[in-house]
Amino acid sequence: MNPESTKTTAGPGSVGAAAERVRIFDTTLRDGEQAPGFSMDRRAKLRMAQALEALGVDILEAGFPQASPDDFAAVAEIARTLKNTTVCGLARCQAGDIDAAGRALETARHSRIHVFLSTSPLHREHKLGMSKAQVLDAAVAGVEQARGLCHEVEFSAEDALRTEPEFLAEVFSAAVAAGATTLNAPDTVGYTTPSEIVELFSWLRQHVRGAEQVIFSCHCHDDLGMAVANSLAAISAGARQVECTINGIGERAGNAALEEVVMALKVRAAHFGVDTRIDTRKLHPTSRLLTQLTGQVVQRNKAIVGDNAFAHEAGIHQHGMLKHRGTYEIMRPQDVGIAEPRLVLGKHSGRAALRQRLQTLGHVPDDAGMDAIFARFKTLADKKRAIHDEDLEAIALGQDPDAAGPWRIVQLNTATHLGGSASASVKLAHTDGREASEASIGDGPVDAVLRAIERATGNDLELTDFQVRSVSEGGDAQGQAQLTVRHGEREWTGHGVSTDIVEAAALAALAIVNRIERQPPAGRRPATLATLATPRIHP
Ligand code: KIV
Ligand code: ZN
Repeated sequence: MNPESTKTTAGPGSVGAAAERVRIFDTTLRDGEQAPGFSMDRRAKLRMAQALEALGVDILEAGFPQASPDDFAAVAEIARTLKNTTVCGLARCQAGDIDAAGRALETARHSRIHVFLSTSPLHREHKLGMSKAQVLDAAVAGVEQARGLCHEVEFSAEDALRTEPEFLAEVFSAAVAAGATTLNAPDTVGYTTPSEIVELFSWLRQHVRGAEQVIFSCHCHDDLGMAVANSLAAISAGARQVECTINGIGERAGNAALEEVVMALKVRAAHFGVDTRIDTRKLHPTSRLLTQLTGQVVQRNKAIVGDNAFAHEAGIHQHGMLKHRGTYEIMRPQDVGIAEPRLVLGKHSGRAALRQRLQTLGHVPDDAGMDAIFARFKTLADKKRAIHDEDLEAIALGQDPDAAGPWRIVQLNTATHLGGSASASVKLAHTDGREASEASIGDGPVDAVLRAIERATGNDLELTDFQVRSVSEGGDAQGQAQLTVRHGEREWTGHGVSTDIVEAAALAALAIVNRIERQPPAGRRPATLATLATPRIHP
């Protein structure tokens, strides 16, 4: 291999105007968000959707509108807001689902309904209890209904990779005749291999009637760690849409990681000969945003976006790098948006420097947001000598209305006692003018604070998970606390950041209470995918 052929430049379009384009279908907010630990509220979803649009994804699957009022509202809000990206809503081949998706997408400038139905023998027999003929009819009816409600229709044959190829081709041919313009063959259970998926896509492109009028799409899960390799193999066999998620989040072991697929296509452009519209310099900021919004970090050695992805530790590698970066580097950190050099701000840094750094990190606050961020930056800079990028991200995200009310902390005191027990007292203020003060003891300071907040606000909060991590470096680093609590029949997750981890936990608890209190009564119902009449999307 000629090492020069792996060279890459920042920005999309490195294989030239003649290259065929692969559409990037992002499902971070649907397949990704439905995985345990990754749930996001509406504001977080909107923020993520805007970042994904700026990243350049072609299609954004915003949710499953029929799953819950919250999902419906999130899809509708994203549909109203995005300008260039096609907004997609998922629906089973059921009239109610398709109708809900159509209504949620009504205001989208470019809308797509993604109807899906299982086709494999296992799913037909054990999940659906349907014959081949019934599956065929339901697929056609679903596509026909969806066609009248949006700009374009995608049909997915769930568990396609374990479906008889002849039957799959028959269902796909019928879907094309009914009006589908994208045919997706998902590897729902992450079972296939690169050579197998190549064989299937090549075969389908020859045997589906109307294949030349539609786009073939792949959607690979990572159960055997092959999602990205399988997606790339499908692309080499003619798939021109790839379904993927930021950081590879998704059901079980996750989906193909968007950043890995995109960078493989870019760095190995000469090999794949296709292009995407992704602005690769936004990959790292978008990945960071997702970790901030969900509180789930990626492992250090994660390709493209992990902390070690561009770190060269071994002396022999460092020596080589000093002579010629190409010896051990196939892409530059800047190509994926890793801001270099890592600039550290401090208490003498001004507003302009702060704004510029925030922009580099992918945050573009309006003037009011900037005022609030600057004030918090100055307060933090008084406590902490060096303000790192991670601190700035935490501050920028602290501007979420989650942290803004209706409740806010006026006073917080905690004491730990020998033997493990602790006590806490809080004074909270509500935007309606109420004040509430409560004290409690607990099995440690976090438990005591949670109990005191529970009493002060009158919400039952049963702690199910508590995690704390440092968001930056040094002994004076800020801590990010993530709390998950059960309230009613639903789990809620909240985050808080402070140089004091008990205060961070209190802010996380308050973020949860505020979200609970801001929910419209209908949204408080635990109507999730799991409560739908038929099983969850995945087997
Ligand atoms: O994995 C899968 O089969 C899915 C479908 C809904 C496309 O997520
Ligand atoms: Zn999936």
